[in-house]
Amino acid sequence: MSTHLHELIRGLPKAELHLHIEGSLEPEMMFALAKKNQVPLPYASVDEVRAAYNFEDLQSFLDLYYAGAAVLRTEQDFFDLTFAYLQKAMADNVRHVELFFDPQTHTSRGVNIRIVFAGIARALRKMQHEHGLSGRMILSFLRHLSEEEAIATLESALPLREEYADVWIGVGLDSAEVGNPPEKFRHVFAIAEAMGLHLVAHAGEEGPPAYIWGALDELHAERIDHGVRAEEDAALMHRLQEQGIPLTVCPLSNLKLCVVKDLRDHNLARMLRRGIRVTINSDDPAYFGGYINANFIATADALMLNADEIVQLARYSFEASFVPAEQKEIWLRELATYAAGFQ
Ligand code: HPA
Ligand code: ZN
Repeated sequence: MSTHLHELIRGLPKAELHLHIEGSLEPEMMFALAKKNQVPLPYASVDEVRAAYNFEDLQSFLDLYYAGAAVLRTEQDFFDLTFAYLQKAMADNVRHVELFFDPQTHTSRGVNIRIVFAGIARALRKMQHEHGLSGRMILSFLRHLSEEEAIATLESALPLREEYADVWIGVGLDSAEVGNPPEKFRHVFAIAEAMGLHLVAHAGEEGPPAYIWGALDELHAERIDHGVRAEEDAALMHRLQEQGIPLTVCPLSNLKLCVVKDLRDHNLARMLRRGIRVTINSDDPAYFGGYINANFIATADALMLNADEIVQLARYSFEASFVPAEQKEIWLRELATYAAGFQ
């Protein structure tokens, strides 16, 4: 593809809506924190960690992802992790981030949920204040655990609601999908909905289209994370298109976790051309080989996206975000000006 389109992508104002902050832990930081916190790692070097990143499916990745996250212990660790990601996002011309964090991964190791909130929020606020990069956080429940544990997690976060009202905007659902359908979390999502939190859920990454229906109808998810298997169900595709339900797609993640064999087989362009509100995101960039611009560039090359399609993906990313309409308008105008200058 022409370097002209790569340039378009690099400067493109965009939002990232599907990013697990624990998945932005680069091996260098993993090693530094392991040493500082005296957490043993099953690797001898940074190169050995990177060499281990050959996944055959979601579970084979999750095993390493949870092991890596064990090096995070203090408020400063969560701050450093988040700050490092936000600097990369800023370099990729991301204007707004809605990141996932998995409190259960940390509370199960004895880390207080307050430490997790405090470190992530401090980095989000600092970036907003000093650089105008907007950031929010979405508390994700681990679906391989029980709904009771998810409810206990939400309840433990309740006292933090006011203190973090500016950044904590929603709940999500991640981890091992198959065998853990959305319905399992109906009650905890109802509680979150009653609290006025936004609702999203991973569905249709490895799981069947029925899980996407479940996320929409049982959990009232406003966005679907991944959702690539929707294409197997014509009625579902119709619904996503009719109702304008956004999908936060993560192409390099899908490639690394063998959801697709080759990026050229990815259905993102087909869904886009059918009027589905797809967006491009990086998921767990430290593990999957690239941040958001790398995802845009690899996808644009593999699927031969044109300039209008690339700009449309960025437009959808702002429209699908959970910020007030006036703020979306500001970013959409910036995007329109940028795109017009690129003809
Ligand atoms: N899918 C499910 N759970 C996850 C993922 C993912 O891609 N990344 C981190 N947790
Ligand atoms: Zn994800």
